[in-house]
Amino acid sequence: MKLIKALLLSALVLFANLAIAGEGMWLPLLLKALNEAEMQSMGMKMTAEDIYSVNKGSLKDAIVHFNGGCTSEIISNQGLLLTNHHCGYGQIQSHSSLENNYLKNGFWAMSQAEELANPNLSATFIVRIEDISKKILSGVTDDMATKDRQSVIDKNIEALKASTKLAKHEEMSIKPFYKGNQYFMFVTMTYRDVRLVGAPPESIGKFGSDTDNWVWPRHTGDFALFRIYAGKDNMPADYSEDNVPYKPKHSLPISLDGVAEDDFTLVFGFPGRTNQYLPSFAVEQIVDVLNPAKIGIRDRALKIVDAEMRADEEVRIQYASKFARIANYWKKWIGESQGLKSTKGIAKKKAFEKDFLKKVKNDRMASGKYGNILSDFEKLYKEIEPYAHARDYYSEVFSRNIELLQVTSYLNRLVKLYEENGEEGYNSFKGRLAPFLQRLYKNYRPSIDQKVFAALTEMYAKDVGDAYLSDMFKKELASAGNDYSKLASSIYGNTMITNGRKMMSLFEEAPADAVKKLKEDPAFLFGKSMADVYNEKVSKKYNELNTEISDLQRQYMKALIEIFPDERFYPDANSTMRVTYGKVNGYEPKDAVYYQPVTYLSGVMQKYVPGDYEFDVPKKLLELYDKKDYGQYADNGKMPVCFIGSNHTTGGNSGSPAIDAHGNLIGLNFDRVWEGTMSDINYDASICRNIMVDARYILFIIDKYAGAGHLIKEMNLVHPKKKK
Ligand code: ARG
Ligand code: GLU
Repeated sequence: MKLIKALLLSALVLFANLAIAGEGMWLPLLLKALNEAEMQSMGMKMTAEDIYSVNKGSLKDAIVHFNGGCTSEIISNQGLLLTNHHCGYGQIQSHSSLENNYLKNGFWAMSQAEELANPNLSATFIVRIEDISKKILSGVTDDMATKDRQSVIDKNIEALKASTKLAKHEEMSIKPFYKGNQYFMFVTMTYRDVRLVGAPPESIGKFGSDTDNWVWPRHTGDFALFRIYAGKDNMPADYSEDNVPYKPKHSLPISLDGVAEDDFTLVFGFPGRTNQYLPSFAVEQIVDVLNPAKIGIRDRALKIVDAEMRADEEVRIQYASKFARIANYWKKWIGESQGLKSTKGIAKKKAFEKDFLKKVKNDRMASGKYGNILSDFEKLYKEIEPYAHARDYYSEVFSRNIELLQVTSYLNRLVKLYEENGEEGYNSFKGRLAPFLQRLYKNYRPSIDQKVFAALTEMYAKDVGDAYLSDMFKKELASAGNDYSKLASSIYGNTMITNGRKMMSLFEEAPADAVKKLKEDPAFLFGKSMADVYNEKVSKKYNELNTEISDLQRQYMKALIEIFPDERFYPDANSTMRVTYGKVNGYEPKDAVYYQPVTYLSGVMQKYVPGDYEFDVPKKLLELYDKKDYGQYADNGKMPVCFIGSNHTTGGNSGSPAIDAHGNLIGLNFDRVWEGTMSDINYDASICRNIMVDARYILFIIDKYAGAGHLIKEMNLVHPKKKK
């Protein structure tokens, strides 16, 4: 492939003028060609083959996609799995109640028999990755219309799926890379019996909570332990008491030697989504229009829920997980916008684009093919702006923050399936929907949701505008005397959808009767009326324009690779397995301030606020600190807690292992620093840092705090720096 050749070539040139170490999320199977030499020059003692191999056990065999969202890794030969506390949060919460409050007090299985099963939790291994670009793009030409191009690709994908032989339990997925200029196939194997083994109390695992989230210096022990169970044949199996701990191909040794500034680090995991190659127009829109809209909505919703959580411990347990999820990206977007401004991200993109245009214009061939890309982008982004704004607003208000309307949108789909495919369609979706709703109602307070409804529907009407309101919205609002609280109480007072018990018994009824009742429900009708308006006035147009933008983005990517043959481009994250590497490094967040790369337990004590909901410290940890009882986990008498590095990570890298030059676990990735959260759009090596918990803190908590020494015995603890 021309592209691969271009990449190879650019890699060679690159080592001459060494790029900013740290940037890039690389495909494990291309490390040899693109990265190995640079990694070794940065101190890595491994080969690319040690990291990713299909012929022998390699690091990749210990890296596990945790429930499709986070990353986790195998740390013992009995399938012990390490990930973040915030990744296992839903599971820890689901086993918690006021009597058995594992969020508050932590949970430790003292034997395998005590480990807790988690229905619906999955753990996925990558068996192998293949470059299938040739096959998927065969028959595709440059001058093809987008639709024709896609239909050729779809056919090729079908053909490849039909002809690929998979072993039992193997599954495959095919994903586009470099905006559709390349395709890779992932063969996976997914385990379905994954049990909770241990979790520290929130006062350790979520220490600093939302105040410290996305912030350095950090002092959170954000980890939890699970275990993969398999059938007797070591293969995936549904939960059963007869299942046995999974025997891995590789498990990560854990280093007791810690890190020092400038040490090589590698982070291996499943980054979700980045947008590194957006044109400046798109970034301007994010900073000026989309982020402020989303931030504003969540601001309102979070204030309402926060007040309720602080007033009632049971509400706090019920809403903790939802609140953390909403607050997380709310805060990230704020940091992202700030970072783009402070690093002049847009100006840099503009300068780059100028350079691009100049190069394109100097080349007759390129000028014909790529000369209009940027002006087309500008036009399209202008055109899509109102739709993109309405779309973000709609999805934040109607499918996320107002839970009642999130539910009605599912019910809307249920009714539609009934109307299109009869009882069969209804029942197949109901089978999935009912258990989902049952879990949702367990943590649902209509009175809180009603307040959110009143606040957010008002914002929607004011900011998105009359043209996007349904007739029912306007009518109901008018009869409520234009008072959104009254509108909310009329909807919430007359719907059955806020009532979990009623809804579960509705699902027992014959589909025709249930559908009839739903279609008379005021909340259902309200939600449906808004969805109809949205589909007609926003999403149709948005999708049309967005298809054009994606196509342009594909051409832009292709152009970049051609026009800048000396640059080494990496594909945007797309929830596939990636390697990123950098060094342990502090940074300068502002003038005259330098942030050291390592934090210690003494910093936890500096932040300690007795009884506080974010900064309390468990008594046992205070005692261990007072006695300096750190066992073999101390670093010169001090207990390290977190460290940062220049590894390029994003959401989905949570729970990813930080690995040293030799392949040992040294930390657990869980966050990025506030100043650098714009790395998803414009990585800047000066301030982009990922945050990891020090492996020694994890071991110390398991061993000294929880007294779960039996887990430590399973692990392989090593001293790579103390070579004899
Ligand atoms: N910011 C980290 C991530 O994106 C941690 C989120 C969980 N912690 C929290 N306080 N909400 O996932
Ligand atoms: N906390 C994030 C996650 O859940 C990782 C941090 C980031 O976005 O970099 O994946």
